[in-house]
Formats: sequence, structure tokens, C-alpha cells
Amino acid sequence: MIAEKPLLAVLGGATLKRPPVWFMRQAGRYLPEYRSIRAQAGSFLNLCYNPELAAEVTLQPIERFHFDAAILFADILLVPHALGQDLSFVENEGPRLTPIANVGDLSRLRNGLDQDRVGRVYETVKLVRERLPADVALIGFCGAPWTVATYMVSGGKDRSAALLWALRDPDGFAKLIDRLVSASVDYLCHQIDAGAEAVQIFDSWAGELSPALFSRWCIEPVKAIMKGVKARHPLVPVIAFPRGAGSKTSILSELGADAIGIDTAEDPVAVRSLLGKTVPLQGNLDPLALIAGGRTLDDAIAHVLSAMSGGPHIFNLGHGIRPDTPIEHVEQAVRRIRGD
Ligand code: CP3
Repeated sequence: MIAEKPLLAVLGGATLKRPPVWFMRQAGRYLPEYRSIRAQAGSFLNLCYNPELAAEVTLQPIERFHFDAAILFADILLVPHALGQDLSFVENEGPRLTPIANVGDLSRLRNGLDQDRVGRVYETVKLVRERLPADVALIGFCGAPWTVATYMVSGGKDRSAALLWALRDPDGFAKLIDRLVSASVDYLCHQIDAGAEAVQIFDSWAGELSPALFSRWCIEPVKAIMKGVKARHPLVPVIAFPRGAGSKTSILSELGADAIGIDTAEDPVAVRSLLGKTVPLQGNLDPLALIAGGRTLDDAIAHVLSAMSGGPHIFNLGHGIRPDTPIEHVEQAVRRIRGD
């Protein structure tokens, strides 16, 4: 019998002596081999839409650190891009989109995803899956509708534009969210068809929602995506990452996700007592501890391992790895987590 991949075992509810480990944003600028391919591609979007190069950068951190999971190299903003919204990434600044500022602007979006764009992402998934070591799992992903909407509505990183639309015109805003729910279901199902073995939904700005808005714009859309994905792929696990959920964490049990990613600010012991001991938790090492290194890093890892030890755990960061992270510290972390 082929042994189950450690990441999938934990997503199925197993508690392993040593947790599987991968890091959000593990393919990126802290790696010289990434910077080299990125320069070859010319732009970040060219890299995302070049299956051969995107597959190569997806595999780079696996080759270097032997992580237990590869995450597809792409971006949450490819969904609005494939819905026809202009998108560019400005060096040292971040994404820039032509804002969809009100319900009238929705007519500028296509009905379905542009296959010329997303088809290349599915091709990347296929290439990575073919080349992946047998014990490493492949994670696909999308952004949660709320987080993607914050970028679509402001055209950048100002979250107040989407919040204001949601407050002033909830029915109109729901139309945007519904479009994102169906596009995301389609996008994730195609990633799974191409070879993704688990999917993660990134809700990076969930923490911006007040308790009154959290259910409607974080919980409900993510639940709807999961329902759509499970209808076609009932056995594929879904990891939800509602960053900054904080005091709203107890509501997350309503999500019914197969695993919950928790950010650096959360106390894993408290989250376990709110969500129960059987829900796999993913996280939550401080990305800054990874920069600090040395004893600080060892102690931070020991703390996460012990706080998470009461149930199924996937070791990860509380947020994405930063470009100024020393590679030796990542090596140190992986050794430490594995107890080598
Ligand atoms: O985790 C991985 O290694 C897979 C690839 C991945 C990227 N972005 C690559 C990327 C994933 C899963 C994402 C998710 C993503 N993208 C999120 C959710 C997670 C989070 O970080 O909160 C968000 C909010 C985005 C949107 C986005 N993409 C922003 C705001 C930026 C600019 C900031 C930055 O770090 O440069 C990006 C660009 C981006 N996405 C880069 C990478 C490797 C850097 C691009 C470059 O090479 O210049």
C-alpha cells in the first residue's frame, strides 16, 4: 500500500508525531532561484501565466527544503483579471486594478472566466503534479470573495472602499460577491481536475469586518464556495484562512472547513477550545521569528509545536514569508520542526 501523504493524512484528521510543514508564500523573492526566473519572465503576471516557469518556481522550495506541500504559484487577483478587470503589479507598491466601484460597473465584468488566462494556471497545476515527489501534496487556492473584492473595489489596498459599498448598498455588493463565489467554485474545481489535492481559501482581510458584517461577507461566501466545490469533489479537503478573525473565531465552526489556518495573533490553545480538538489547525509561526533566527526562532517553533499539540496540526506561518527572510533560517526551522 502507498503511504498517505502526511499533509493529506492530517487534513483527514490524523495527529502526527511531527506535523507536516509548508510555508505560505514559500515560492518568492527570498529565493535567488525565484528572482532569476522572475527576471526571465519580465513581470509577475507573465510568470503566473507561463506554465513552464510557474511550475518551476512552485517546485523550487520543495527541492530546497523538502516541504510536505507545494502551493500552486499564481495569485488571488488572477480571478478578477480573468473576469476582465485590468490588473498590473507595480514594483514596490503592489497590485493596481481599474476599480469596480458600484453595481453599474459590474457590467464591465465577463460572465465566466477567460479560459486563455485560467487555462494556463490549470496547465501549471498539471505540470507540477507530474513532477512532484510522491510524498508531497499539491495545494491549489483562491482568494475569498471578501478579500478579492477589497482589491477590485478600491483598485489597490484600501479596504474602506469595499466596506463602504457593503454598508451603503449590501444588495448591490452581494451581486459582486455572488459573481466571485461562482467564479471561485469553477476555478477551484478546474484546479482539482488538473491535479490539486487540497485547496486553500485566503481571506487575508477578514479581520477588517466588524462582527455584524463577518457572517455575511466572510462566512457565507466561503461556505458557498465550499458547498460548490464539495458538490463536485466531496473528498478534496478545503483549508480556510480567515486572517485576523480574532474575537470572531468561535463563529468559524459554522464554516465546516476541513482545516482552519490561524494567523500569528491567535492563541492555538484558545482556538482549539473554541473549535474543538478534531479540527485540523494550520499555523502559526510569526514570519518575523523566521527573520530573527537563532534561539528566538527555536523558542518560537517550540511554542507553536506545544500549543498545537492537542490535535491535528499542519505547521505553517501566521502569514506569508517575507522577502528579507534568510534562507538558513528556513532550513533551521524545517530541521527543528521535523526534530532532525
Ligand atoms: O504561497 C505561495 O507561494 C503561492 C503563491 C501566492 C502568491 N500570492 C504569489 C505572489 C499566493 C498563495 C498569493 C496569495 C495572495 N496574493 C494573497 C493572500 C495571501 C496574503 O499574502 O495575504 C494576497 C492578498 C495577494 C495579492 C497580492 N499579490 C499582493 C498584495 C501582492 C503585492 C505584495 C508583494 O508581496 O509583492 C502580490 C504579489 C505577489 N504574489 C508576489 C508573489 C510571489 C510578489 C511578486 C513579485 O515577484 O514581485
